[in-house]
Amino acid sequence: MSSLLVDNIGELVTNLAGGGEGGPLGIRRRAALLVEAGEVAWVGPARDAPAADRRIDAEGAAVLPGFVDSHAHLVFAGDRAAEFAARMAGQPYTGGGIRTTVGATRAATDDELRVTVRRLRGEALRQGTTTIEIKSGYGLTVADEARSLRIAAEVTPETTFLGAHVVPTEYADRPDDYVGLVCGPMLAAAAPHARWIDVFCERGAFDIDHARAILACGQAVGLGVRVHANQLGPGPGVQLGVELGAASVDHCTHLSDADLDALASTRMDWTSGTETTTVATLLPGAEFSTRSPYPDARRLLDAGVTVALATDCNPGSSYTSSMPFCVALAVREMRMTPAEAVWAATAGGARALRRDDVGVLRPGARADLIILDAPSHLHLAYRPGVPLIRQVLHNGVPQCR
Ligand code: NIG
Ligand code: FE
Repeated sequence: MSSLLVDNIGELVTNLAGGGEGGPLGIRRRAALLVEAGEVAWVGPARDAPAADRRIDAEGAAVLPGFVDSHAHLVFAGDRAAEFAARMAGQPYTGGGIRTTVGATRAATDDELRVTVRRLRGEALRQGTTTIEIKSGYGLTVADEARSLRIAAEVTPETTFLGAHVVPTEYADRPDDYVGLVCGPMLAAAAPHARWIDVFCERGAFDIDHARAILACGQAVGLGVRVHANQLGPGPGVQLGVELGAASVDHCTHLSDADLDALASTRMDWTSGTETTTVATLLPGAEFSTRSPYPDARRLLDAGVTVALATDCNPGSSYTSSMPFCVALAVREMRMTPAEAVWAATAGGARALRRDDVGVLRPGARADLIILDAPSHLHLAYRPGVPLIRQVLHNGVPQCR
């Protein structure tokens, strides 16, 4: 078995609380890390580094777990640059443009969709994203949702059925019938390719009764729950997610004290060893691109809520695949410290996907890691817009740039 030593690491972010220098990042200085069979085999001081077949010299730079982007919509055709330009000239974002992308996506061939998914997946990987969740939601027919998930599953195991993104035009005057379609034939066709189910629970999309019915149908066939909640205004989505044991409620831009209390009441069940925390996943790319007020991460963190950061990469509300950009926004605009933002973009994303093998660098974890062109994780927020990802290892394999 071939081994690879990443040596001469100036600052190693392990995300093992108590595993190193104070705080949740578990920082080790002057460290080394050994990779074998796609996993981390050893972590320790550089002076104790074992021999290995190959060696990468990190030259004193910072090394951190690969980003875990737990919320992205990569299966679509076309773009909505004109809609973005109109927003920057003062038009509000309503979500109505989703139907434009649905039309383009239905008209695309499988290969056209595949090319876009792979292009965006590659773009994200070059920026340090080693785990990515991908949703359907721009097909909204049985066949188009199933193929969207099939194509997503070619590049990630973290696939999410979002047939309840909006009610498509042809069902506009009979939403109950559309909910029946989603819970019946569409779910049956989608479920074999999906790990999760999601609903856009918002005024203009799905109300609480429809959202609860759809999520319950997904749970009944073994899918985990996630919810698009409280993005455009206050609403019941966050508390519905908590009630159903969702792994994550996403957006969380408009939260009441009761929403906060509900999220803060969820936690890891240490007796059974099962994760039952509902993570609040914040998507600052959406507020950036819709010119909306950012969610207040500080309020969530101070209440003890587990926070993740993700891109929401999609052609309407957030056409970025860059986790470093989201980290910088979270620090500058959402009152997160750089350490909190880096944790949320790595370990937080892993919690939102209920994964314990990524977002952390310890023996037995996936060897998914980033070598920065910088001495510290602080530089991700301190040097916004600068390509600081020097090298990415995914499953222990150095990726071509
Ligand atoms: O998460 N809000 C719902 N869905 C996407 C936006 C989709 C679009 O505008 O195309 C989101 O922001
Ligand atoms: Fe989204």
